[in-house]
Amino acid sequence: MAKRISTVGILTSGGDAPGMNAAIRAVTRAAIYNGWKVKGIYRGYEGLINNEIKDLTTESVSSTIQRGGTILKTARSEEFMTEAGRTKAYENLVANGIDALIVIGGNGSLSGAQALAQEHDITCIGLPGTIDNDLYGTDSTIGYDTALNTIVECVDKIRDTATSHDRIFFIEVMGRDAGFLAQNSAIAAGAEAAIIPEDQTDIDQLEQFISRGVRKSKNSSIVIVAEATKDGVGGAMHYAERVRNEYPQYDVRVTILGHLQRGGKPSAFDRILASRLGTASIEALIEGQRNVMIGISNDQIVYVPFTKAIKKDKPIDKELINVLNVLSI
Ligand code: F6P
Repeated sequence: MAKRISTVGILTSGGDAPGMNAAIRAVTRAAIYNGWKVKGIYRGYEGLINNEIKDLTTESVSSTIQRGGTILKTARSEEFMTEAGRTKAYENLVANGIDALIVIGGNGSLSGAQALAQEHDITCIGLPGTIDNDLYGTDSTIGYDTALNTIVECVDKIRDTATSHDRIFFIEVMGRDAGFLAQNSAIAAGAEAAIIPEDQTDIDQLEQFISRGVRKSKNSSIVIVAEATKDGVGGAMHYAERVRNEYPQYDVRVTILGHLQRGGKPSAFDRILASRLGTASIEALIEGQRNVMIGISNDQIVYVPFTKAIKKDKPIDKELINVLNVLSI
């Protein structure tokens, strides 16, 4: 029989993402609403191993819904990747009377939750928190919408210089191994092309872009490049270098947007998503769910087993690739 829950622990792990605070707030308040206690674990799994744990109250999460980053801080823990590290973490959960653990994070963080739940008697629930949007089973992850909007705002600004100087800009965006941010920001910013890891054909994506005759009708272009590389090759610098060597007639520049993509106030969309998922995580525990990620699909809350969510095979809709190709002529 499943253990009766009276205390939940919550942590954020991996890269911070806008909307994580809204999720912490939702989990905290929904748990308290249900009569449970909440313990905030600081610095992700690293803090769990080091017993950095404090009580959270309704007031602890006041005025946080609008803030970027994570009030619980975050880390990428090497020690938690070992069985010994996970055992220490489990012992601290027990010592603090935590009956269920809610993990807000991306692929690595949910893989960690899965390993912990497999090896020890602890219920884990995951909330998708990453700007990369690479978790299977949820249409959107917390932070993705905000990061997308940040990228589009930056690209709009770079466009002014691109058109004024008749330049080709290669703009590199985050996403780790996934191209969601690149593909969708390219559509939203009216870019001429996106180079993403999911569009793996034998045709060279740079050749494709150049051969579309982009320079015949336009004097400037923006190419959004996903940061992912294939066999160590890729990235905005790589493609810019190739254009410099193969098409020296073009004036090329590179912008790597970097960590500014992760910061800032969460969008209304991310705040609502985080609030819904956070509340649903407590409802899932009440229903007796364990070891699932809470996602949203077609605007409905769904429970996705960890094994599925972290498989790294969330596809990019081919229609999005087509839309960009058609509209960038
Ligand atoms: O997973 C979020 C993310 O921002 C990725 O897009 C990026 O590859 C990575 O984290 C960067 O990690 P760090 O902040 O540790 O450099």
